[in-house]
Amino acid sequence: MVEQLKGRTVFITGSGGVLGSTYVRRMLAEGARVIGSDLPGKRAEALVEAHGGNPDFRFYPLDVASEDEVTAIFQRILTDGWEPNVVLNNAAITGELLMGAGQPFPDFADLKLGDWEKTLRTNLTGPFLIARQMDRDIVGKWPCTLINVASMYALNGAHHRIYEGMPFKNFSAYGVTKAGIHGLTVWLAGYWAPRGATVNTIAPGAVFNNHSEEFQRRVGELIMLDRMAKPDEIADAMLFLASAQAGYMTGQMVNVDGGFSAW
Ligand SMILES: NC(=O)c1ccc[n+]([C@@H]2O[C@H](COP(=O)([O-])OP(=O)(O)OC[C@H]3O[C@@H](n4cnc5c(N)ncnc54)[C@H](O)[C@@H]3O)[C@@H](O)[C@H]2O)c1
Repeated sequence: MVEQLKGRTVFITGSGGVLGSTYVRRMLAEGARVIGSDLPGKRAEALVEAHGGNPDFRFYPLDVASEDEVTAIFQRILTDGWEPNVVLNNAAITGELLMGAGQPFPDFADLKLGDWEKTLRTNLTGPFLIARQMDRDIVGKWPCTLINVASMYALNGAHHRIYEGMPFKNFSAYGVTKAGIHGLTVWLAGYWAPRGATVNTIAPGAVFNNHSEEFQRRVGELIMLDRMAKPDEIADAMLFLASAQAGYMTGQMVNVDGGFSAW
């Protein structure tokens, strides 16, 4: 069997989450060397426990919102002897994360400026810091690709009605950052092309993570395929974008949303 990612060294932010940990597992299985990173904590520990014994896996704690940490990250990886040629801007403050932390989902009128700014810092400034550091340390030195992670709620508004009575909502700053990250993609695509680097966005749809039957029914009505995605179905598209087979794609947004954005 041909390994789709042989020769790829993939650096992933936020790799302990629902999708990030799926990408790590699938990319290792496809022959990639994988560099995981996340905030220190349970998700990071679980990832290291799952893959720490694999010689093709390394892990670095990283807060993408910290300019100092991001500025140092690629030099640390390079000093340790691996040269990343695929970078995934995957880390984000998500609804899953807020719900897991027991945080309330305020109405728009009650959204605190600090929470808005924290989301922008993590979901948009973080990816900018990673991309800027790629530019300084990697781009032009060897062929490479950056994949920015957006959402089905990047270029489409949230369907607020489906969240009525649910323990979570879609929050405004989230969709704003996910629209913004595609702006980073298209800006960088032309800027990096002369130096042999490509940039694309993946926009995952609603991923099943133990949602209630009622929520699945409501969101299913908005999706052509009438169901939420399995994490592995998002990973299938991510593997392609991370592979050499995506070499002639740049500046694109790939929607993996069961047809949500195509009605
Ligand atoms: N799950 C979905 O339905 C869905 C849909 C569309 C888009 N996405 C996007 O896919 C990506 C992964 O989502 P997920 O479902 O795995 O979410 P998740 O909440 O399970 O994982 C997010 C990860 O990001 C990490 N993170 C948060 N702040 C960070 C910081 N400052 N520095 C470093 N890491 C940080 C968290 O620790 C966590 O491991 C996100 O960008 C998300 O917006 C997810």
